[in-house]
Amino acid sequence: LDNGLATTPPMGFNDWNAFGCNVSEQLIKQTADYFLSSGLKDAGYTYVNIDDCWMTHTRDAQGRLVPDPAKFPDGIKGTADYVHSKGLKLGIYEDAGTATCAGYPGSLGHETTDAQTFADWGVDYLKYDNCNNKSDGTRQDYVNRYTAMRDALLATGRPIVYSLCEWGVNNPWEWAGDVGNSWRTTGDISDNWASMLSIAKANMPLASAAGPGHWNDPDMLEVGNGGMTDTEYRTHFSLWSMMNSPLLIGTDLRKATQQTLDILSNRDVIALNQDTLGQQATVVSSAGGSYVLTKPLANGDRAVALFNSSDQAQHISTTATAAGLPKRGTYSVRDLWQHTDSESAGTLSATVPAHATVLLRVGADDQGGALDNPPMLDTGAT
Ligand code: DGJ
Repeated sequence: LDNGLATTPPMGFNDWNAFGCNVSEQLIKQTADYFLSSGLKDAGYTYVNIDDCWMTHTRDAQGRLVPDPAKFPDGIKGTADYVHSKGLKLGIYEDAGTATCAGYPGSLGHETTDAQTFADWGVDYLKYDNCNNKSDGTRQDYVNRYTAMRDALLATGRPIVYSLCEWGVNNPWEWAGDVGNSWRTTGDISDNWASMLSIAKANMPLASAAGPGHWNDPDMLEVGNGGMTDTEYRTHFSLWSMMNSPLLIGTDLRKATQQTLDILSNRDVIALNQDTLGQQATVVSSAGGSYVLTKPLANGDRAVALFNSSDQAQHISTTATAAGLPKRGTYSVRDLWQHTDSESAGTLSATVPAHATVLLRVGADDQGGALDNPPMLDTGAT
């Protein structure tokens, strides 16, 4: 969606994976505080997002949504004010049906009122779900419902990232590019290897649909929730970064271990996700559960992931030219998890443990490329 927002994938937090319906103003404020104290804000995390169950079961006399006063004593407005005072942004959740998945009032037929209410509260991001949608299953129906909220948000004049959670719909990447800033490409993630892997594999072939302002969304992060090993969580974070997924933390940060924090705040890896070129990684090769993915970067480097989805260690090998770099005598290679720098004559390979990912940033060195350093032109301008 060309609304000037999400020119790189949104980064932040959403409470659903760790808390389900147990959301509160206190949790949102403490998470915002933690973004600052932990350095996550400095690493790029900006949006603190509320998921389902934040409201009461009935609208007010004017037809507006009402925050649950027990969960949000200062309302969404008060919560947004607090989050903004920390230099962060607030996200909220609604549904393109008669009720949310948890049974709270939906926005179908109330799009204008609800979008204006969100804008009045200072909301910066809307996740728009697809439960209870009365759909006839036609593409026209879901395009209409998701477009209605897009237009209502645009009409408020407030910059609000629009995140489509249109699960159950066929091939959203074919129609959602000018409807939302992101669209879910799969069902819900769970905190286990099989779930994460199947979602990653489903999202990998969709690279051509993604770009600045419009991203594939393979769902939120499970890093830190305990159902995978740290090796598996590093793979999860590597793949989501390579695939330009929104990076929405889904764990209780107040209890996060140092290992969890180290994964989530790896700036070398985040830089791949936030690269201004905005190109999702593509698969160079795959065999026997080994994958080589590559992603071009704005400065001419390539990110290369050697990903072993199998249950045994595997030797995975590719070359710099196969990864899209020009032919050179040497390449600079930075290992983004080991934080080590080396040089390569062109082969990029590693013995990768089961379920692990070796993530490299590879640059073409200058020699041999006359055009790499074009002379400065003196235009004579003063
Ligand atoms: C389904 C979505 O896919 C989840 O991410 C979450 O938002 C729940 N609905 C909330 O009910």
